[in-house]
Amino acid sequence: MTEIAKDPLLPGKAIITAIRQDTEDIKTYQVRDVNGGKPFDFEPGQCAMLSLPPAGEAIFSITSSPLAEMMEFSIKNVGRVTSEIHNLKVGDQIGIRGPYGTPFPVADFQKDDLLFIGGGIGLAPLRSVINYVLKKRDNYGKVDIVCGCRTCNDFVHYEEITEEWPQKPETDVHLTVDKATDDWTGFEGYIPDYLEELNFSPAEKKAIVCGPPIMIKFVVQQLKESGFDPADIYTTLELKMKCGIGKCGRCNIGSKYVCKDGPVFTAKELAGLIETF
Ligand SMILES: Cc1cc2nc3c(=O)[nH]c(=O)nc-3n(C[C@H](O)[C@H](O)[C@H](O)COP(=O)(O)OP(=O)(O)OC[C@H]3O[C@@H](n4cnc5c(N)ncnc54)[C@H](O)[C@@H]3O)c2cc1C
Ligand code: FES
Repeated sequence: MTEIAKDPLLPGKAIITAIRQDTEDIKTYQVRDVNGGKPFDFEPGQCAMLSLPPAGEAIFSITSSPLAEMMEFSIKNVGRVTSEIHNLKVGDQIGIRGPYGTPFPVADFQKDDLLFIGGGIGLAPLRSVINYVLKKRDNYGKVDIVCGCRTCNDFVHYEEITEEWPQKPETDVHLTVDKATDDWTGFEGYIPDYLEELNFSPAEKKAIVCGPPIMIKFVVQQLKESGFDPADIYTTLELKMKCGIGKCGRCNIGSKYVCKDGPVFTAKELAGLIETF
């Protein structure tokens, strides 16, 4: 009997098994398949399409580690689909398809020092890589994590960032906010300024950057000024997407489809695609 190929655009069913309100407009959702497991295997940095008819579908980074038994998404309420997701309760169903996009090449990072730089909700894909690396700690060198947000109330996964990660061997967390309150003990200022002050050496180091486009632009510029080779700077691009599988042409930059050829690119690759890099 001929087997009918599964339609790659057809979502499977997932169940919301936990919800945490992280900030005023960001919630983190734990999802499992109907049998209680992870909906599908993936690699750090990959994404999934979540769907909620009739509102539609949107793409999100998988923020949990691929080594976890479930999947997590941190979702900012910005529009039609995300506001409907924010109305969901534990036990509700959601459509899911994936994994999509290129992952961060964690195998190539082995033995290197790693510098993670996340701005706002941009920490979502980095958290997947960070927790993967910290679980396989002996395979990697020193880990530095720089996180920046507008205020101290805007950090997602705040307890994990401030209590769990700094306890890991050879792991330092550096926090900055654009606008500090009286009780803030971290840095006050934009991430590129903080990087200038921290003055990381580029030797044997890979930088992994995610955040709003303007932050990425100035962080990459700062890293290059500090001597980082553009081939050692990894970042992710966010473009409006529809199919997620390189078919609809919605997400192209030059000859590349961000959903299929990205979203992870090195600054060297981006220099050939985007003028500002
Ligand atoms: C690779 C990738 C990974 C992502 N990961 C996450 C994540 O982990 N968490 C998260 O909260 N969001 C993430 N996003 C963004 C998320 O896909 C959009 O916020 C979502 O599509 C909004 O859907 P909506 O229907 O709620 O908003 P809509 O009603 O479609 O739009 C609301 C507003 O946001 C604008 N907008 C929507 N999507 C984008 C976009 N991608 N870029 C710029 N402007 C946009 C629209 O123009 C409009 O002004 C990611 C996007 C990409 C491409
Ligand atoms: S989203 Fe359709 S080609 Fe990328």
